[in-house]
Amino acid sequence: MAAIRPTEATTAPWWRDAAIYQVYVRSFADGDGDGTGDLAGVRARLPYLVELGVDALWFTPWYLSPLADGGYDVADYRVIDPAFGHLAEAEKLIAEARELGIRTIIDIVPNHVSDRHGWFRAALAAAPGSPERELFHFREGRGENGEIPPNDWVSEFGGTPWTRIDDGQWYLHLFAQGQPDLNWAHPAVRQEHEDVLRFWFERGVAGVRIDSAALLAKDPALPDFVKGTDPHPYVDRDELHDIYRSWRAIADRYDGIFVGEVWLPDSERFARYLRPDELHTAFNFNFLACPWDPGLLRSAIDDTLAEHAPVGAPATWVLCNHDVTRTVTRYGREETGFDFAAKVFGTPTDLELGTRRARAAALLSLALPGAVYLYQGEELGLPEADIPRDRIEDPMHLRSGGVDPGRDGCRVPLPWSAGEPYAGFGSTVEPWLPQPAAWASYAADEQGTDPGSMLTLYREALRLRRAEPGFAATPGETSDGRLNWLPSAPGVLAFTRTHGLICVVNLSGSPAPLSEHDEILLTSVPLDGSGLLPDDTAAWLRRKR
Ligand code: NOJ
Repeated sequence: MAAIRPTEATTAPWWRDAAIYQVYVRSFADGDGDGTGDLAGVRARLPYLVELGVDALWFTPWYLSPLADGGYDVADYRVIDPAFGHLAEAEKLIAEARELGIRTIIDIVPNHVSDRHGWFRAALAAAPGSPERELFHFREGRGENGEIPPNDWVSEFGGTPWTRIDDGQWYLHLFAQGQPDLNWAHPAVRQEHEDVLRFWFERGVAGVRIDSAALLAKDPALPDFVKGTDPHPYVDRDELHDIYRSWRAIADRYDGIFVGEVWLPDSERFARYLRPDELHTAFNFNFLACPWDPGLLRSAIDDTLAEHAPVGAPATWVLCNHDVTRTVTRYGREETGFDFAAKVFGTPTDLELGTRRARAAALLSLALPGAVYLYQGEELGLPEADIPRDRIEDPMHLRSGGVDPGRDGCRVPLPWSAGEPYAGFGSTVEPWLPQPAAWASYAADEQGTDPGSMLTLYREALRLRRAEPGFAATPGETSDGRLNWLPSAPGVLAFTRTHGLICVVNLSGSPAPLSEHDEILLTSVPLDGSGLLPDDTAAWLRRKR
């Protein structure tokens, strides 16, 4: 049985250098055969996650939901959606994982609820101006008959973020229509979320991922958005920090941690969320979106470490998640960065090249100081799938009038066994999203016995990351194990960590010499004996001190 890493004073707290695996429950494994992944499926696959070598699981929302946005439309935070299981089963899963050395992080979506949430239903049933409506942002429309939305904001999923109801009022939803925004100026909204946090911490969760963490607070006047307005009417408002300080006080009572979904280009503003009495960590989207380019990657790494150092927070390293294009597809394209606005159908990709780069990127991200997030299927090297248009469920696609391909291509049910129906996902009927014909060739069972597979690479890298002192976070060091760049050829990234680990990544376009070393620990592809590192590959080396 794997042991939970100790957290005595001599060791940095677990979350500062953890490897955290994102479980998109609906597509992880189907325990009851109905076509949808569920908690029974996750419980059955815990040994796989132990063998993979991760420290924690982040579960995307598993609560009661009509799935207007894949579960990010929550109807009840204290109920597990029956498609996934039930509360007692979630408690069992949390406990079983913990027994196996794996902690649980849940996903809380404070910006909005589902339009089926009891509060919103009550608000619809109540009159304009009622206390029930005050929990949300209801307003009269503009124009002679109130037929124009109350302001000019644009939904994160496109179109107006306002929907008009029968009595003529409009309600605000920064995302889909089924996701009404809560009014965070209302004390009951704060109270409820604090209770929800306690509810889940009491059930043994070790952490909480905060959805859309920089969007909750709104300018109460809900003014039109004039570009350049400071403060922004709904992004990164100062009021948020007070909310997160009170959340932190709750988490501290349970030794729990937060990871915020904070998309902000301004690194100084970003770091404010990570002050010692606010969130422990936040996702590093600048690194995630960074093109496969040596100069840009090096800057992204330097900027990340520089922005975290003053607040003493560890960085997180993320290559992909349930919202973005799968890494092997992205890195095989001409444009290797990620940008929501640039997504179109039919972008050509070279999967062989993308996979080679994704292997190198895995060793890069797993060698950097801080915590690392892996998204289910990343360890199998899954590409982005083409989903037939009539099967796409993502509101990002639907609200774009069919122009944006949406995010379902990275949410396809996992292939577990090559020889079984639906690649061993566990379903006896077709899964909720169709799997591409080649899916079985990525199956975990066959990759597990193939020394050259992506799964074997991830297992070995995660094993070394735990076992090698060179990767350890050092208590008291704000950067969690320093990173020093080593001299290297142009286009080659080479750095060393505090205890003698060296990581070299070659993006130069031709074979490059390895940095001075005593031992090769791991390479993203086998070396050919020339002593050179091929293009688009990475190596972990050890130097005795
Ligand atoms: C961010 C989540 O990651 C995404 O999947 C979701 O659509 C939005 N927040 C809205 O909740």
